[in-house]
Amino acid sequence: MTRTTRRPTAEAVTFPTARQRPLDPPDELGRWRQEAPLLRLAYPDGHLGWLATRFSTVRAVLADPRFSNRAELTHVPVGRSARELSLLRFPPGMFLRMDPPEHTRYRRLLTGQFTVRRMRLLEPRIARIAAGLLEEMAAAGPPADLVRAYALPIPSLVICELLGVPYRDHERFQRDSATLLSLERGPEEKLVALDGLIAYLADLVRHKRDEPGDDLLSGLVASGGLTEEEIAGVASLLLIAGHETTANMIALGAFTLLQHPDQLAAVRDDPETAGTAAEELLRYLTIVHIGPTRTALEDVELEGHTIRAGETVTVSLSAANRDPEWFDRPDELDVRRPPAPHLAFGHGVHQCLGQQLARIELRIALPALLRRFPDLRLAVTPGEVPMRTDMNIYGVHRLPVTW
Ligand code: HEM
Repeated sequence: MTRTTRRPTAEAVTFPTARQRPLDPPDELGRWRQEAPLLRLAYPDGHLGWLATRFSTVRAVLADPRFSNRAELTHVPVGRSARELSLLRFPPGMFLRMDPPEHTRYRRLLTGQFTVRRMRLLEPRIARIAAGLLEEMAAAGPPADLVRAYALPIPSLVICELLGVPYRDHERFQRDSATLLSLERGPEEKLVALDGLIAYLADLVRHKRDEPGDDLLSGLVASGGLTEEEIAGVASLLLIAGHETTANMIALGAFTLLQHPDQLAAVRDDPETAGTAAEELLRYLTIVHIGPTRTALEDVELEGHTIRAGETVTVSLSAANRDPEWFDRPDELDVRRPPAPHLAFGHGVHQCLGQQLARIELRIALPALLRRFPDLRLAVTPGEVPMRTDMNIYGVHRLPVTW
């Protein structure tokens, strides 16, 4: 397909979050992707940076070490407070917002814990968790909110067991992480949530020094490579990233399949399709729908433009994952699509550490749900389902279902 570059780059756009159709990214992103690989983006704090929407440009930015992910350098494309990320004073150990070599030190300590092989060992346990929740749903009877009854507890229980965090405390960390991921809450509220979460986890880490368990946090304590404060920071990142994302993929995935009954039947009845469906839903829905953002540490030549040192570039994973240059019929959901590389888990050094776990959770959770309740359906019209346009991670706030 031929692309044009009609839009003069001096004309800045703002990052869109309002969607014309709940399962598709905002139409503007698709139009801009067609027009130019890079546009000037106006940030709420007045910063003038850049927006990348094409698959190849997004991947180039995320792979380039000249772009930093340090919170104090990047401007936030959407949200109530422009400087809220730097105000948050990320705690030690929050390695998502560090650059190599600092980032590498943490990532190395954790990579071995999240390999495909290790995650596969969790499969039977995840299947048991899913089955238990489905029995509870059946016993309580219809209707149910699928988010609270199923999508949120699965990854929360799994990440709690993996880390060694007591699940009985889930309401507190789910509440704190919802505050942190909101686009509408202010920096003060977020600071309170983050400080509270870190204090809770620091306490837990101290406890594990005295009474170690067979879990990841006890392992980090025993390795002696990190301070208690750093381990609490690592734990907060894993806890937040480990439950909100997958929970939203499960619930939004179910919402999507319920609107595509033929594809739902394939996921339910054909075990092979469960695997390809997980990849396709990840691509099609791309729940990390804002950013990531990076900031140039030096002048970078890209797509015929000079991105000056200090300028922030926001990439759109959602737009990249619908790029017709990379995907055939990109706007069509096709659960039998042969797997092809997508950017739902990001790219480069920060590419999602938990992606194998997320894949396994999705591959188990969706077919198990559809088999247990073969006549599952929405209890409201699709238009009544509250969508998470107000959150950093897209999805549904609630999903009323019946059977
Ligand atoms: C990073 C997406 C599940 C842990 C990321 C990034 C994306 C992403 C896009 C890169 C962010 C950036 O470049 O700035 C997702 C999606 C998930 C998911 C769509 C579910 C469907 C999980 C799970 C864990 C996890 C289950 C649990 C351990 C992390 C961590 C990072 C990360 C620790 C930071 C990696 C680093 O900075 O080196 N994720 N994620 N994620 N994710 Fe996930």
